[in-house]
Amino acid sequence: MKTKKTVRTGIVGSGFSATFHFEALRRVYQTDVDVVGVHSADAEQGRKYAADRGIRFFDTLEAMLDEVDAIHVCVPPKWHEPITIAGLERGKFVVCEKPLTGYFGDDSEDFHWQRADKNVALAAALASVDRILEAERKSQGRLLYAENWIYAPSIQKEREILEKTGGQILWIHGEEAHSGSHSVDYAYAARCGGGVLIGKGCHPLTAALYLKRVEGRARDGRPIHPKTVSARTHVITQLPAFRDEGHIRKDYYDIDDFSAMHVEFEDGTIADIFASDIVVGGIHNWLDICANNHRTTCNINPNTAMQTYNPVEKNFADIYVVEKIGTKQGWACTSPDEDWFTGYPQEIEAFYRTIAYGEPLETDSPLAADAISTIYSAYVSADLDGAAVDVKTYQ
Ligand SMILES: NC(=O)c1ccc[n+]([C@@H]2O[C@H](COP(=O)([O-])OP(=O)(O)OC[C@H]3O[C@@H](n4cnc5c(N)ncnc54)[C@H](O)[C@@H]3O)[C@@H](O)[C@H]2O)c1
Repeated sequence: MKTKKTVRTGIVGSGFSATFHFEALRRVYQTDVDVVGVHSADAEQGRKYAADRGIRFFDTLEAMLDEVDAIHVCVPPKWHEPITIAGLERGKFVVCEKPLTGYFGDDSEDFHWQRADKNVALAAALASVDRILEAERKSQGRLLYAENWIYAPSIQKEREILEKTGGQILWIHGEEAHSGSHSVDYAYAARCGGGVLIGKGCHPLTAALYLKRVEGRARDGRPIHPKTVSARTHVITQLPAFRDEGHIRKDYYDIDDFSAMHVEFEDGTIADIFASDIVVGGIHNWLDICANNHRTTCNINPNTAMQTYNPVEKNFADIYVVEKIGTKQGWACTSPDEDWFTGYPQEIEAFYRTIAYGEPLETDSPLAADAISTIYSAYVSADLDGAAVDVKTYQ
């Protein structure tokens, strides 16, 4: 049995994702992870996060970087690039939450995503990608892109099927949807890089891009890339005709809340990806893979690993059932371990095998870059009412 290595780690951000990253770090078993501390722009929240977990709070990122081998970037997308590059420049391993980066407006007070020039957005997002890739090239560290869908057990099982059968994926369709994000920042494209197309669409899209890469490598030794994308976006909750019954969040400032992307790969096969904030009934995360020799449905969440029937709402008052469910009464797809089905612990375990022992990485920077390129090309397409737009790809 190999000796466990120790990796010293710091968390950047102390909100929602910083919480599930910490939980996943506690479950890493092949590496000794020493979570040294946290740095957060919200010092009060950061100090509480640190105190609750018995770790240190750092006033500055630089001070934390002095004492760690790796950092987790758990901040809104606007700050992914500067923090990731700061870590890479110091030779650290950088676990960066999704999306890798993006376009965050022109700093004007009245910036509004619906009026923004999407060609400018695409160029700026790709320039940001290039800066990150360049920093990684020069670094002794590495970027580990935290797209948890790739590590969801159902997606990894599909990887095995593709690798062992040499299957050809003809069509992927998938979706991430629920009734609206909890985050304040999410309402503003200038903080998140766009709306639901990027915020939620990046998950099933990246899984589709990943599986086509896996297919190509397994059969022909080279990944299959996206070639073009056509997309439509909508703002359903701002329609004058929208009839609000109180179940769907509707106070967004300037973001799209519905998107559909149609991706054509370089081999002519296709993927259709939906992302929205207008679906009630709990989170809906799934990917359907139609191959020439098999078909797979990955029910990431909900799934039927467990189902409960609760006749009285208040009986389940202090029981977590499943993400974004509107009621706990009646039948529910109660998740016995939602993080596990979502891939969080498997993702962090895999990252630390890469950091400590150099194991291959499923979610490398070219995959993250392809996702950003496809997403912003999709926004260009949406402004052209769905015309096909070429996608720049990364090796
Ligand atoms: N993979 C997933 O399932 C998943 C789920 C939720 C969020 N996310 C991603 O996680 C990231 C953060 O989202 P969240 O929901 O945790 O947000 P959040 O608002 O809950 O937390 C953000 C934290 O970052 C801190 N922060 C902001 N700017 C900072 C800066 N410049 N330096 C240091 N700290 C800073 C804030 O103070 C806050 O503590 C986003 O990129 C989001 O897309 C991923």
